[in-house]
Amino acid sequence: MSTAISPTAYNYKVVRQFAIMTVVWGILGMGLGVFIASQLVWPELNFDLPWTTFGRLRPLHTNLVIFAFGGCALFATSYYVVQRTCQTRLISDGLAAFTFWGWQAVIVSAIVTLPLGYTTTKEYAELEWPIAILLAIVWVTYAVVFFGTIVKRKTKHIYVGNWFYGAFILVTAMLHIVNHASLPVNLFKSYSAYAGATDAMIQWWYGHNAVGFFLTTGFLGMMYYFVPKQAERPIYSYRLSIVHFWALITLYIWAGPHHLHYTALPDWAQSLGMAMSIILLAPSWGGMINGMMTLSGAWHKLRTDPILRFLVVSLAFYGMSTFEGPMMAIKTVNSLSHYTDWTIGHVHAGALGWVAMISIGAIYHMIPRLFGRVQMHSVGLINAHFWLATIGTVLYIASMWVNGITQGLMWRAINDDGTLTYSFVEALQASHPGYIVRALGGAFFAAGMLFMAYNVWRTVRAADPAEAEAAAKIAVVGAH
Ligand code: HEM
Ligand code: HEM
Repeated sequence: MSTAISPTAYNYKVVRQFAIMTVVWGILGMGLGVFIASQLVWPELNFDLPWTTFGRLRPLHTNLVIFAFGGCALFATSYYVVQRTCQTRLISDGLAAFTFWGWQAVIVSAIVTLPLGYTTTKEYAELEWPIAILLAIVWVTYAVVFFGTIVKRKTKHIYVGNWFYGAFILVTAMLHIVNHASLPVNLFKSYSAYAGATDAMIQWWYGHNAVGFFLTTGFLGMMYYFVPKQAERPIYSYRLSIVHFWALITLYIWAGPHHLHYTALPDWAQSLGMAMSIILLAPSWGGMINGMMTLSGAWHKLRTDPILRFLVVSLAFYGMSTFEGPMMAIKTVNSLSHYTDWTIGHVHAGALGWVAMISIGAIYHMIPRLFGRVQMHSVGLINAHFWLATIGTVLYIASMWVNGITQGLMWRAINDDGTLTYSFVEALQASHPGYIVRALGGAFFAAGMLFMAYNVWRTVRAADPAEAEAAAKIAVVGAH
């Protein structure tokens, strides 16, 4: 009997599908990242064609890395974790399969429409209304599968990782639906239902919480399962994990206005966003410390286990970017950092260092288990991948700090008579070396993903279907 239909086994089929697509979309999205980074070094790469300009490919990059790569990693791990920690199979194989194919359809639609120039123009919410509706349907189905599985769990408690995944699923649905309220004028064009400063506020309430709930809370769910699993240690503190959860979700939702400092947004709203962002440092670091301290007594494992290294270094970058974020939210700091490459560096400290690294660690943990193997084909390749990813991230963010601060200072420098000291082009010339280093760092990171693809392919090719089926059997005791 196939594992996909046996009621006494976990549904690993959908987890395998999402896990494999995480690697595929990761390569495409990051490859495109390297391409657009190269366009900023060599503008000839825009090829003078509308479809290949930076302006059209940039949103495709963000959609591919966030929703395709990050999204598939979140689907794969949440389906894996919810089944194992609830000791039960997903509530419906059909609905789970629908979420897989529906999600891939959304991604393919993005790949077609964004280069053609169809866009709502709202960042991270660019997809036009028919695709946005499909996305909403897929997402609500995801919620039904996830929460339905929790309802039929065999365990008494709901493991803390599921709390984080649950909040990520619910809040993402709310954000997506509210921010996409729009008036269609035809199949390919719609206008936002909101106007002026309200539109901006709703957009950045969405945008910031896409970071807070899509790029953070979901991945914290990942952390609470895969760090203890890989370290073979219980989570450092369950009490802290509960405080962490409630504090994080209560505070994140207020911080959106830090994206709109010095704009038409009322001043009190900007200051409120700034204050909430600073307070947000506390739960963010609480979570990071909880993950890190789980390694107490297991630090030596870092010497031999590159998967654990991915997970721990991701937490270090999480800590770093959640320190940097609150600092950038302070209005006076933001007056220097806003519009500069500093923001881009901050984004990728979170995106590469945290989101991508923890996903990669989790996928390496799951692949052998999903395909009935003892371990990945090559531990050496995982190690090489780890170093490429770490060096790549450091090159990316260090070059963007230098660029960002240089740009901020050059733009604000004024002569005694009040005229600008530097023209915009001079600041751009000063940024050129940084763009070369960033493209190099990105190429390192993307090359690591190719190592991963080869390693995964070799592991999957060697898979033994009987072993895989045995691995998917629900153990009655200690299944998670
Ligand atoms: C090889 C890896 C990557 C490279 C080379 C790369 C490169 C780039 C470049 C060149 C930009 C445009 C910057 C600008 O407008 O000046 C960008 C934007 C962005 N990337 Fe990446 N990226 C990579 C991976 C990722 C990943 C894995 C994520 C998310 C998980 C991500 C999320 C974003 C976001 C959110 C933006 C928009 C930032 C903003 O508007 O402030 N990137 N990336
Ligand atoms: C306590 C946590 C954090 C705070 C308070 C924070 C704060 C900020 C601030 C102030 C900005 C600059 C806004 C601007 O000047 O336009 C920003 C941009 C951004 N941050 Fe964070 N950040 C945090 C964590 C993170 C993490 C962990 C990630 C990624 C995983 C992330 C992703 C982003 C993105 C994508 C943007 C660019 C948005 C855009 O303009 O397109 N942030 N953040």
